[in-house]
Amino acid sequence: MTKRVMSSDLQLEDNEIESNIRPLSLDEYIGQSTIKENIKIFIQAAQQREEPLDHVLLYGPPGLGKTTLAGVIAHEMNVKFKVTSGPAIEKPGDIAAILNNLQPRDILFIDEIHRMSRHVEEVLYSAMEDYCIDIVVGKGPAAKSIRLALPQFTLIGATTRAGMLSSPLRDRFGIIHRLEYYSIDELSAIIMRTAMILNTSMTEEAANEIAKCSRGTPRVANRLLKRVRDIALIKYNKPIDQEICLKALKLLNIDENGLDELDRRIIEAIAIQFKGGPVGLETLAAAIGEEKDTLEDVYEPYLIKQCLLQRTPRGRMLTPYAYEILGIDSGK
Ligand code: ADE
Repeated sequence: MTKRVMSSDLQLEDNEIESNIRPLSLDEYIGQSTIKENIKIFIQAAQQREEPLDHVLLYGPPGLGKTTLAGVIAHEMNVKFKVTSGPAIEKPGDIAAILNNLQPRDILFIDEIHRMSRHVEEVLYSAMEDYCIDIVVGKGPAAKSIRLALPQFTLIGATTRAGMLSSPLRDRFGIIHRLEYYSIDELSAIIMRTAMILNTSMTEEAANEIAKCSRGTPRVANRLLKRVRDIALIKYNKPIDQEICLKALKLLNIDENGLDELDRRIIEAIAIQFKGGPVGLETLAAAIGEEKDTLEDVYEPYLIKQCLLQRTPRGRMLTPYAYEILGIDSGK
């Protein structure tokens, strides 16, 4: 395994960083095989030409490892990794300062890049294309525009909403990849790897049970693993086997279909309150007391993937399979 040295520039508040469970190299990174295969080639080509890697856009549902993959790319390129996010960059001057402080080939990671303001975004156009920015000095008739050369950097942008990116920004990324949900086998492998780093003994059958409830998402898998590990320690005080795991998942209120409390509230609300739908997103969000964006970005994609929910032009509707799971008659 690669030596786990974290860049002092990495300022993520994620507790996964503290526990050192994020993979550092492409070989350690499990899943997303097509992206990995492509990225490996682009990194090798950039290194052979002694150039920075082209700008990368990673998109897809939350929790699939966009930040992790960006960190892996920085590690493989052997360059510094600076992390920020769209909403954190308030003014054009903020992005100008960040860019000006980079070293050649450094990687700047902007999470939630779709939430950047238009003024900030406009600074990025020339920065990404020509490695320069135009700064206006002074005011009124005496104002002058000065061109500032920047180090040749790589921007990695991440978003859950590629469709919300303006086309001038999207067009400036040379490498664009959509991260996919992980298979049960990939999630099991991630869980076994994390368990090993956390010094937790668990059987492959147990890892498989957690994987089945992880919504195709490593972030959920690792979070469930940590909670199952807590329950196993306090209630059973022995290595985690399939039986302990199933009991722990039940205690965590996750059902045999891998649905959590909010998933069930969503489908129950549509079934009972809205008679199966169609119901508009805002009405549904108000009914269950959850943010519209969370519903749309986190919950719906998984429910759709599980064939429980349909998005129709008239609103959200339940599928016959959802009624089967709820054990109620659709009445249709
Ligand atoms: N932890 C979180 N995501 C991971 C991945 N894709 N591979 C290995 N460990 C991970």
